[in-house]
Amino acid sequence: MDDPEYAAFSDIDLRHWKSYDDLITGTLWLLGSRDKTGPHVGDYWGNFVPQIPNQVLRRFTRPGEVVLDLFSGMGTTLIECRHLGRHGIGVELNPDVAQRSLERIEEAANPRGVETAVLVADAASECVREQIREQLRRWGQESADCVILHPPYHDIIKFSADPRDLSNARSLEDFLRGFRRVVANARDMLAGGRFLALVIGDKYASSEWIPLGFECMQVCREAGLQLKAINVKDIQGNEKGKGKNENLWRYRALKQGFYIFKHEYIMVFRKV
Ligand SMILES: C[S@@+](CC[C@H](N)C(=O)[O-])C[C@H]1O[C@@H](n2cnc3c(N)ncnc32)[C@H](O)[C@@H]1O
Repeated sequence: MDDPEYAAFSDIDLRHWKSYDDLITGTLWLLGSRDKTGPHVGDYWGNFVPQIPNQVLRRFTRPGEVVLDLFSGMGTTLIECRHLGRHGIGVELNPDVAQRSLERIEEAANPRGVETAVLVADAASECVREQIREQLRRWGQESADCVILHPPYHDIIKFSADPRDLSNARSLEDFLRGFRRVVANARDMLAGGRFLALVIGDKYASSEWIPLGFECMQVCREAGLQLKAINVKDIQGNEKGKGKNENLWRYRALKQGFYIFKHEYIMVFRKV
């Protein structure tokens, strides 16, 4: 645990470690409601709360470093990159979403004048590596200093009609095959010794709990990434599913003997 190099991966000043009381060091992440400051809006169905990339970037990157998000969606990670002074590369399959995210990112405060790029590409393809490398080279870098992966939770939310979209994978096996290719790309792009965060939840299919999170975790471990943490984040704070709906789900759960998802995972890996 006591890795002398570790402190070099963030700008946390350990002489004043007590002043970082908002940085989470436990495995239970109670983030509460969504941070809606600046251009962060919760209107993209399936985006994560900005507090997730905020926590990850502050623990595992330094200002001026490069963060790669291979499922960048509406750009939550890239907006946080701007706020925190990290360069950001996003990869998003859907060109409309990529364009809208760029407009939103442009609205974010950028006090350190960092660069942001959104590549329209399939994160599972081989050619995406060259596109990312080219972007890195433009910034004088060879690799990314941190990777964030927030894939579709298989078919829970359909993001597009594109067959390369992982939310259109016809089976869990197909989804994991695609995800494996994304993880291989992520690993290749990540600098040695640095960190990757996977944000993922589980799902139900035909009344059975499918441990998607652990399946994806296994893919990362098989790719040679060292598991550092399985953090559990509560989704209580979500605005949706409250009130009447919440009661209906409670009733159904009691009647049919299942549990309602109230958590997802933020798993942390290191490329050793
Ligand atoms: C769970 S969302 C990520 C949301 C993002 N974290 C945010 O806060 O906006 C997953 C995203 O992955 C995209 N996606 C799906 N398959 C992809 C693929 N093969 N390559 C790149 N992006 C993909 C979807 O279009 C969707 O925007």
